[in-house]
Amino acid sequence: MIIGVPKEIKNHEYRVGMVPASVRELVNHGHQVFVETDAGMGIGFTNEDYVAAGAEILPTAADVFAKAEMIVKVKEPQAVERAMLREDQILFTYLHLAPDLPQTEDLVKSGAVCIAYETVTDSRGGLPLLAPMSEVAGRMSIQAGAQALEKSNHGRGMLLGGVPGVEPAKVVVIGGGMVGRSAAQMAVGLGADVVVLDRNIDVLRALDAQFGNKVKAIYSTADALEKHVLEADLVIGGVLIPGAAAPKLVTAEHIKAMKPGSAIVDVAIDQGGCIATSKATTHADPTYIVDDVVHYCVANMPGAVPRTSTFALNNATLPFIINLANKGYKKALLDDANFLKGLNVIKGKVTYKEVAEAFNMEYVDPRTAVENA
Ligand SMILES: NC(=O)c1ccc[n+]([C@@H]2O[C@H](COP(=O)([O-])OP(=O)(O)OC[C@H]3O[C@@H](n4cnc5c(N)ncnc54)[C@H](O)[C@@H]3O)[C@@H](O)[C@H]2O)c1
Repeated sequence: MIIGVPKEIKNHEYRVGMVPASVRELVNHGHQVFVETDAGMGIGFTNEDYVAAGAEILPTAADVFAKAEMIVKVKEPQAVERAMLREDQILFTYLHLAPDLPQTEDLVKSGAVCIAYETVTDSRGGLPLLAPMSEVAGRMSIQAGAQALEKSNHGRGMLLGGVPGVEPAKVVVIGGGMVGRSAAQMAVGLGADVVVLDRNIDVLRALDAQFGNKVKAIYSTADALEKHVLEADLVIGGVLIPGAAAPKLVTAEHIKAMKPGSAIVDVAIDQGGCIATSKATTHADPTYIVDDVVHYCVANMPGAVPRTSTFALNNATLPFIINLANKGYKKALLDDANFLKGLNVIKGKVTYKEVAEAFNMEYVDPRTAVENA
C-alpha cells in the first residue's frame, strides 16, 4: 500500500503521524511511504531521517494526498486537507466528529474511509489510541500543578515533596483512570501525600495493588470529595463518563473554601471540566485565578511535549497502520470488532451512532457498510 504522512497544519501542532521508526516498519512490510517535507522538523526529525528509514519526501501536502492510498495524521483534517481527500482513500487520525458538523459533512462528501483513533476500543472496553495521550496529560498535570504552586505563579509557595522536616503537599486526584493513575505515579515519585478518589471499586483495587500505602485510594462520595478537596494543596481533575460532559464534582463553593494559593489542574477540561470554575486555557496563557485558587485548564496538554506524545501515539497506532496496509481496510476492519469501532465514515455513510445522532444524519451499521463498500 502507498501511505502518506502530511505535515500537521493546525496551529502549534508539532506532532507527526509517523516517526521514522514507524516508517521503517511499514517499508519492511513491503509498503511505500511518502512524507511531506519537514513533517517531523518540529520534534527533531529531519527529511534525511525519513529517507534513511525508507520514505520518499514530497514537497507539498497536495503531492502526498495525490499519491497516497492511506493518509496517516494526528489532528483532524483541516478544511484544505479535507478538500484533497478522495473516495479511494483511507484516513486514519483523530477526528472528534460529534461536535464538528463542517468536518463531518466534508468527510461524508469525500467518500473516503475515515477511521478515528479516539473511538477504537480494546477487549477491556478501553480506548487504546486515546490512552497514550491521557498518560501524557496525567503525568504533565503534576508538573503543571507543581509550577502553579510556586509563589511567583500566585501559588502557596510549596514544594510537592517537601524537604526533611517539612510536610509534603497534599495532592488529591479525582478519577483514578488513565489520567489519574499517571498523575498519582508522578506525585508519589515526587514524594507528595497522594489521595485518589474514584467510584469504581475495581479501579480502587488496582490503585491499591499498584501503589500500596503510598496512595490512599478512596471511594468518591460527595462527603469524601469535599473533605479531601478542602484539605488539598493541589487538585487534579481526571474523571470521565464516556460520551458525556464531565460532571462538575468540585463546586464554586468548594473553590471559595479551598486554601488560598492552592491549585487545580482540570485535565477533564476537554470534556467540559469537572470543576465548576474551570474554563479552557491555552499553553500560551495556561492559568488564571478564581478566589485565590490557581486554575490550569489547558485543553491539549500533550501538545506541549510533542516529541514524547508522538512516540507514545505511534507505539499505539503502529500495529493498526500495519494491519490496514497489510490486509486492506475491509479485512482489517471486519477481522477485528474493536478496530471496526474506529470507523466513523465510509463511502458517504456515517457509521458511528453518536455522530449520526448529533447531526440527525442516517446511521449505517459499520459491518454492513464495510461489506457493501
Ligand atoms: N486536557 C488534556 O489535554 C487531556 C488529555 C488527555 C485526556 N484528557 C481527558 O481526561 C479525562 C480522563 O481521561 P482518562 O483517560 O483518565 O479516562 P478514564 O476512563 O481512564 O478514567 C476516568 C475515571 O473517572 C472515574 N469517575 C467517573 N465518575 C467519577 C466520579 N463521580 N468520581 C470519581 N471518579 C469518577 C471513572 O471511574 C474512571 O476511573 C477525559 O475527559 C479525557 O478526555 C484531557
